Amino acid sequence: MEQLDQLVQQAAAEFAAAVDGAQLEQAKARYLGKSGALTERLKALGKLEPEARREAGAAINAAKTAIEAALEGRRNALREAALLAQLAAEALDVTLPGRGGVQGGLHPVSRTLERVERLFGSIGFVVADGPEIETDWHNFTALNTPENHPARSMHDTFYLEGHDDVLLRTHTSPVQIRAMQAHVARHRDADAMPDLRIIAPGRVFRVDSDATHSPMFHQVEGLWVGETVSFADLKGVIADFLRRFFETDDLQVRFRPSFFPFTEPSAEIDVAFMSGALEGRWLEIAGCGVVHPNVLRFGGIDPERYTGFAFGMGPDRLTMLRYGVNDLRLFFEGDLRFLGQFR
Ligand code: DAH
Repeated sequence: MEQLDQLVQQAAAEFAAAVDGAQLEQAKARYLGKSGALTERLKALGKLEPEARREAGAAINAAKTAIEAALEGRRNALREAALLAQLAAEALDVTLPGRGGVQGGLHPVSRTLERVERLFGSIGFVVADGPEIETDWHNFTALNTPENHPARSMHDTFYLEGHDDVLLRTHTSPVQIRAMQAHVARHRDADAMPDLRIIAPGRVFRVDSDATHSPMFHQVEGLWVGETVSFADLKGVIADFLRRFFETDDLQVRFRPSFFPFTEPSAEIDVAFMSGALEGRWLEIAGCGVVHPNVLRFGGIDPERYTGFAFGMGPDRLTMLRYGVNDLRLFFEGDLRFLGQFR
């Protein structure tokens, strides 16, 4: 009997000493397990006389109940301790300042494109677009670019493997052709077509990469076709746009004679700021010209009746100038430390 009391005390002490569930289970096995101390005693009952057996059995059962109670008590205590520890570890400090909502922002080039669309939109240009994977015909042939023109060489153009006549468009100019064809189709039955005025921003691709060239970059194409459109209109529209885009009258615009297969005459548009870090330096921002009659013809438009001007601007360059960014690649690396400055 005394031995049993001792056993209960010893079990309770071992349970109390267990610091986690695993240790507790081991201690339990030593008493209540298959060959635990108490189990052994129960097994030994069989050898006793019936009278003694009943008495001893009752005592052992009482001891078992006591041990189980001690076990259960320790189990609960450990569980509670674990819960408290977890709560302490995961505690929220409600007095910390909030993190606030993170607000995204538009990419600086997107800002420029929106700005360009808005400014041209205000004088009647609508946004047009075309596919980035373009046919050789739209990208070159219909733009009066002969078979042997250097722009067609593998060096500049990304062709699609296994497709000689499909490429990543090297400029947004093919949208001119698509827009003219759509315009003609839309006004097929009219005596006179209304003016076509489009602005076509988008991505273009060339095999080129350094501080001022990226294999993917942006262009904005502009096209105005009508019965009386001239180079003078082009000059006025561009000069006005640039003053509004840069929000200053303090700049000069220069049209420098150049060559493009799809315009005649052709020019390069340069700007120079009269003040600031870039003061007095001429910077090329676009190509332009009077739409070549062959291009109008490819677009389905009668060059005897209609004329037009077109231009292709580099919005990446415009963005660099507007914000004073000196490396084009920064725009395409996706580094939030850089991009976050334009929110
Ligand atoms: N497509 C030309 C280029 O990528 C730019 C250009 C020049 C577009 C003259 C035009 C234009 O529409 O008239 O270099």
